[in-house]
Amino acid sequence: MERKALKKLIDSKINLSAKVGEEISIIGQVYNLRLLSWGGFLILRTSSYYIQCVFDNKCVEVDADNLLTESTIKLTGKVKKAKIKDKALYPRDIEIEIKEIKIITKPSKLREPIDITKRELKINLDTKFDNRPYTLRHPKERAIFKIQAVILNSFSNYLTSIGFTRISSPKIVFTGAEGGSNVYKLDYFGKTAYLAQSPQFYKQMMVGVFGKVYETGTVFRAEKHNTSRHLNEYVSLDFEMQIQESFIEIIEAEANALRYIFSELAALCQPELELLDVELPELNELVLVKFDDVHEIVYEKYGKDYRGEKDLAPEEERLICEYSKKEWNSEFVFVTHYPSVKRPFYAMDDPNAPEKTLSFDLLFRGVEITTGGQRLHKYDDYVTKMKKFDLNPQKFESYLQAFKIGMPPHGGLGLGLERLTAMICNISNVKEASLFPRDINRLEP
Ligand code: AMO
Repeated sequence: MERKALKKLIDSKINLSAKVGEEISIIGQVYNLRLLSWGGFLILRTSSYYIQCVFDNKCVEVDADNLLTESTIKLTGKVKKAKIKDKALYPRDIEIEIKEIKIITKPSKLREPIDITKRELKINLDTKFDNRPYTLRHPKERAIFKIQAVILNSFSNYLTSIGFTRISSPKIVFTGAEGGSNVYKLDYFGKTAYLAQSPQFYKQMMVGVFGKVYETGTVFRAEKHNTSRHLNEYVSLDFEMQIQESFIEIIEAEANALRYIFSELAALCQPELELLDVELPELNELVLVKFDDVHEIVYEKYGKDYRGEKDLAPEEERLICEYSKKEWNSEFVFVTHYPSVKRPFYAMDDPNAPEKTLSFDLLFRGVEITTGGQRLHKYDDYVTKMKKFDLNPQKFESYLQAFKIGMPPHGGLGLGLERLTAMICNISNVKEASLFPRDINRLEP
């Protein structure tokens, strides 16, 4: 047995601007090495940024034959002022004048299937995903996931700050919560179980315990078609809360969460936003439009007749966003009152319009990023609605017990992390906002 004093971890996020003139040591990977007649440039990828380092042949001997890209090195040098144009590098007013390089480890074999030092990774998606451990090291790819990490953290931090409790619900479940056939079945010690399509039942049950809850976790959808909006595994940002008067409170909570996320992105991700040429959206007031009115507007303004359809077509979502940006000056459109037949059984019908629900989708930059709404909260209402949906309430007894013992009026939403990330970063295929995407043809890496 050995006892050791617990050392504090060293903060690897050195503030280089505060170190001008000083000598520092820093560990990272050689992202790029450019040799010139007088010396050269080495771009070091650290846990924070891609940093420009420069060396002069007269002052330091760089063993270029052994200094392969993707080697891990410890670099010692002096922090100097500089003027750097390349947006992949940060900070752009600082460079490190190399004094010494110690190679810690070299790649076992020089495997560079793609040149990730190019400004743009001009490769097809399959090649990008096949080589994911490598292509993710490209500054633009890394920037997407730095932004995504900040979205995830700020969603959690915001909800925690206003009294929500984080929960973690099971992902091996007794039934799919969202209906439909896109659910993965598995053998659970001889019984049939499923991979959770959403934390829906559990977050509702937990409203009975905490009043306001949220979860960020992986969910599974057995989507059989390969589209630019669907993943077979994605991260769902969910919350569920008591409602005082109206389901609009859920929309208000989401809008405030999004505003907080954007302010955190502005504060923490400036280099990444600049590199990706991203302009953060503004969400200052709510634009609410009823489902039926979307059909009407799209028909009237664009001549596309979807009236009578029970759901919005992707084209309509795109067109209403285009219209909203132009006419209502908003990139966010909350479409409310979806038809009951297209919403799951747990959705609360609108007492003033029985065929409609107190539910909504949030559309952003042409794509649905959120579904939410008020839920039924009375046991008898569940039994009635389930029968209407041809579902057997007995099969759902373990979930329904929460309503038997009493539940407050409540509602919530699910926000797709990859869709939100993709739309913020102006990425057209949601798979590019997933580190290791899963689709019908892809299980690796
Ligand atoms: P829904 O099924 O609409 O609602 O999903 C909510 C949000 O999750 C995202 N999403 C997806 N993202 C990537 N790939 C997919 N296959 C995929 N499917 C959905 C979208 C969508 O808006 N329980 C309800 C939410 C609620 O009412 O609380 C639900 O899961 O951004």
